[in-house]
Amino acid sequence: MENEVSLRLASQIKLAQLKQAKQMDLDEAELYKSRIKKLLEQENAVLVAHYYTDPLLQSLAEETGGCVADSLEMARFGHQHSASTLVVAGVRFMGETAKILNPEKRVLMPTVEATCSLDIGCPIEEFSAFCDAHPDHEVVVYANTSADVKARSDWVVTSGIALDLVDHLAAEGKKILWAPDKHLGNYIKNKTGADMLMWDGACIVHEEFKFKGVLDMKKLYPDAGILVHPESPANVIEIADAVGSTTQLIKAAKSLPQSTFIVATDRGIFYKMQQMAPSKTFIEAPTAGRGATCVSCAHCPWMAMNGLENMLTSIEQGSNEILVDPEVGKRAMIPLQRMLDFAKNNQLRVASNG
Ligand code: 13P
Ligand code: SF4
Repeated sequence: MENEVSLRLASQIKLAQLKQAKQMDLDEAELYKSRIKKLLEQENAVLVAHYYTDPLLQSLAEETGGCVADSLEMARFGHQHSASTLVVAGVRFMGETAKILNPEKRVLMPTVEATCSLDIGCPIEEFSAFCDAHPDHEVVVYANTSADVKARSDWVVTSGIALDLVDHLAAEGKKILWAPDKHLGNYIKNKTGADMLMWDGACIVHEEFKFKGVLDMKKLYPDAGILVHPESPANVIEIADAVGSTTQLIKAAKSLPQSTFIVATDRGIFYKMQQMAPSKTFIEAPTAGRGATCVSCAHCPWMAMNGLENMLTSIEQGSNEILVDPEVGKRAMIPLQRMLDFAKNNQLRVASNG
């Protein structure tokens, strides 16, 4: 089974490599942007983009009253917005989350082929068997999963809320079954001391950040701060000045005193970091180099499949609509809604630029 998952992963990466959005010059980009702006109005649609997507898409979302955010805020924003169509720029689980939370809305994506290694590495049949084998555990899954996996869970979390939620469950004496990201899971386990049973999944992008590489870079920039997403390996997390979701890292870039940062997450985030902290310098953390499995190190190959061209086609033609089986959607809605309620009740600040 492990082999089957690796094969599926390898072919998906290849596909992403072949289909990455083409580069365009700025004049062409402006033309695309103005056509998309008109269509968004015409279709009563709003753009919801992740920080890892092309800066052209992030700026378009900002210019049109949409949002650029982490996965928690993307879910919250889409759920609260009055638009009848959500155009989600990110990876498939983000589109599915939007659809599950808003079954009455139309959800479009520039491509439906943008997946996530965590999602691929957690097939529902095996996951369900794992849950069945541990019925006394509370099932907590990361948002980077399929609708079926969410439907099998008690709680969905994103990296922005996972630590608080697990802490809360541990205080109630709950034993936790965690899936799929083992690095994030281990980070939370170490921080909270919770009793956690772990699925063996990882993000192909963050797993490539290595302790030695980051330390070597720190020697070159001894005054730099280190910002790390918790999907990275434990020894990289250990040397970080700030660990957190994409939103939390952007906030840290602004609030920490350092003027230079080594950043261990997708470089798409630099657009927002630079906007929030214009006088500071951001450097990509090194990855494993030639041994790396990521298509484009420090850049998610699936996020990179989103571009202006395929976004325009999707809105123009109503193509790439995200559909979720209504029965699965109803079940998956419960843990997702619990996540949003938990965030609200704990007054977690989920927006980066507020
Ligand atoms: P955030 O929720 O922190 O934006 O993370 C999403 C993700 O896919 C990170 O790789
Ligand atoms: Fe998935 Fe990693 Fe890409 Fe995030 S960066 S969407 S976890 S593959």
